[in-house]
Amino acid sequence: MKNTFLIAALASVVSLFSCSEKKSINVTIDESLAFSAKQYTLMAEVMKGKPDLLPKSINKEGKLATDSSRNWVSGFFPGSLWYLYEGTKDAKFLEYARLINARVEREKFTTNNHDVGFILYCSFGNGLRLTGEKNYNEILLTGAKSLATRFNPKIGCIKSWERPDKWQYPVIIDNMMNLELMFWATKYSGDSTFYKMAVSHADNTIKNHYRPDFSCYHVVSYDTITGKVEKRQTAQGYSDESAWARGQTWGLYGFTMAYRETKDKKYLDHAVKIAKYLISQPNLPADKIPYWDFNAPGIPNEQRDASSGAIMASALIELSQYVDPEFSKTCLATAEAQIRSLSSPAYRAKLGENGDFILMHSVTSKPKNVDIDNPLAYADYYYLEAMLRYKALMSKQKNY
Ligand code: GLY
Repeated sequence: MKNTFLIAALASVVSLFSCSEKKSINVTIDESLAFSAKQYTLMAEVMKGKPDLLPKSINKEGKLATDSSRNWVSGFFPGSLWYLYEGTKDAKFLEYARLINARVEREKFTTNNHDVGFILYCSFGNGLRLTGEKNYNEILLTGAKSLATRFNPKIGCIKSWERPDKWQYPVIIDNMMNLELMFWATKYSGDSTFYKMAVSHADNTIKNHYRPDFSCYHVVSYDTITGKVEKRQTAQGYSDESAWARGQTWGLYGFTMAYRETKDKKYLDHAVKIAKYLISQPNLPADKIPYWDFNAPGIPNEQRDASSGAIMASALIELSQYVDPEFSKTCLATAEAQIRSLSSPAYRAKLGENGDFILMHSVTSKPKNVDIDNPLAYADYYYLEAMLRYKALMSKQKNY
């Protein structure tokens, strides 16, 4: 628990400093991108010597922990290298990104879980966007076809996991993120099947995952005979009825993206309701970085989840561009506060420390005792994405 007190103390110092001598957010972002480039150069050099592996977190000794491309987090490090290439224009990151991307290509054939969307769209999706590399299209389309095998028309959703011991047909809120690959696949191939599956999945997620207050369940499992919900539970949250923080932010990001891809106002309205729920959460701390679960019993002495803060910031920056001016300001103010907090010493590591990850203090699964108060590859990815999104938005408004 030592770290939770330290974060709270550092966060108050940061917010005092912010009030008295507020550094412009543009300066904060430029400094943080420059730092991230240095930190990830160290990481990339280490990873060059570990063929086929991808960074995940740190181990008990505080050293870099890696895994194969099979792990759902495998696409985030190559994705972050693409973002650093975009942010710095340094050809070194293009080289690193291409090298590390190749390590996740085999996941295009993965059909036994839903993570192919996360893995390929963060890596090859960004690579395609930034370089137009033609063969990335085929890799992404093959991945989308693999993901499509997990769609059951009776249920109308893409199945997340294979866990017959616990659930017949589990669909987790995180799965909203995989729809981006499906939307892309229809745009590229002209085959509307992927789009229709994504829309069906999103519609059923609104219907079955969300509670009246616009918080959501983590896992909704369906009965494969009737197509009806069999269970509403959690896997990584505090309890079945609690609001697991990262799940709430996956939903916010997922429905904002679904609106971008469909222009269906139903998704925008849903994203706005989730955003309002999150922004007005009584348990959202002053520095705007969520605890790992909004209903964790020991709040305020619970671990933060920097990854949720980063995902929420990135989603809010996109959402701010689709909503009315007043709510847009609220979204941006929250995202700005989150970027400032994550860029402060309370969350951002020192050069060469933290297993060469950029951010500290995330949680994979407290109930399962996995990576509690650790760096995580996806916290860094969405933090970089949030900063680049903020920068792009401000440049568009001529404020950068
Ligand atoms: N998708 C798994 C997680 O958010 O931890």
